Amino acid sequence: MPVTDIESQIRENIRKLTPYRSARDDFSKGVLLDANENSYGSTVRSDLKLHRYPSPTQDELRQKIAEYRGVDFENIFLGVGSDEPIDLLMRIFCEPGRDSIITTPPTYGMYKVSANINNVEVKEVLLTDSFQLKPDEIISEAGEDTKILFLCSPNNPTANDMKRTDMLKLVTRFPGIVVVDEAYIDFSKEESMAQMVQQYPNLVVLQTFSKAFGLAGIRLGVAISSPQIISYMLRVKAPYNINKLTADAGLKAFDNKNLFKFNIEAILDQRDYVAEQLSFADAVEKVYPSSTNYLLFKIRNAKEIYEKLAKKGIIVRYRGNEPLCEDCLRVTIGMPDDNVRFLKALKQILDEELED
Ligand SMILES: Cc1ncc(COP(=O)(O)O)c(C=O)c1O
Repeated sequence: MPVTDIESQIRENIRKLTPYRSARDDFSKGVLLDANENSYGSTVRSDLKLHRYPSPTQDELRQKIAEYRGVDFENIFLGVGSDEPIDLLMRIFCEPGRDSIITTPPTYGMYKVSANINNVEVKEVLLTDSFQLKPDEIISEAGEDTKILFLCSPNNPTANDMKRTDMLKLVTRFPGIVVVDEAYIDFSKEESMAQMVQQYPNLVVLQTFSKAFGLAGIRLGVAISSPQIISYMLRVKAPYNINKLTADAGLKAFDNKNLFKFNIEAILDQRDYVAEQLSFADAVEKVYPSSTNYLLFKIRNAKEIYEKLAKKGIIVRYRGNEPLCEDCLRVTIGMPDDNVRFLKALKQILDEELED
């Protein structure tokens, strides 16, 4: 049965929590002598009044993101990257030492790390050989204490979209919160599930400014969900989690939508080029289809090749330790010059191996 009564899922101490009330929750204009800020100003030149604390709720930025994603302001939570919402969800829903979550490896590693930090058990239901979900197995793995299911689509590191029908089946049948991590959604042809949060109160969609917006350095992640879940996330977060420099860059990110689109198109073109070039190499067994800004490929002696590439200054990610990813490397699509350097270095390594 899907969860409709979110309140009953919240840990008791969080339900009873009296959140911290920060000075800027009460007033942000006037002669501000309430927050022990340095009224003489900051030591860094900026128009952003950096000597004042930022908005605790960042309403302007939340409104802008809500409009862009076609949801309401109340559906948006902003975090320090996506990693903060992942951790907060764990803390809101999972009783340490008692509750569990489900992940579907191979997938993004932070769900497990965050669960481990919070002393929450991790149940794993592997993807199929074609990297798709097993909805029935996931449902039967879920017990009374299984509080969150983490899905990732497009998935890292496998690069593919999960089937929409499987994800919907899980949103409507999993007896807890279903998180769909859409970090790479803007590279995909699939539509975001963000607007479905209006329909399914147990759905949380995660997005980030780190990928398609090219703003990994500002650490801005977004959780989109029912107003009820968002209100608990706002209560549990650190008072001023999003700083002024980050909020300013986040707002400006929407000023140049043409560049956003142009860069995505360029990355996708380059991705197709690199995929094609990789597929020509005999040692490359498979280049997996990608809906992201990276490629996963299976190559003979992957670990050795990864190390030889690193010696030549080309850094990719070895994923051969992940289940179903034996002998796999993951390469992020770079600028055209980077991609050519990567392909040349790989060719050189493979040619040298042939000579040996
Ligand atoms: C699937 C997935 N989710 C989340 C993140 C982290 O995003 P952020 O930079 O917003 O913390 C990553 C980063 O690689 C990712 O691959």
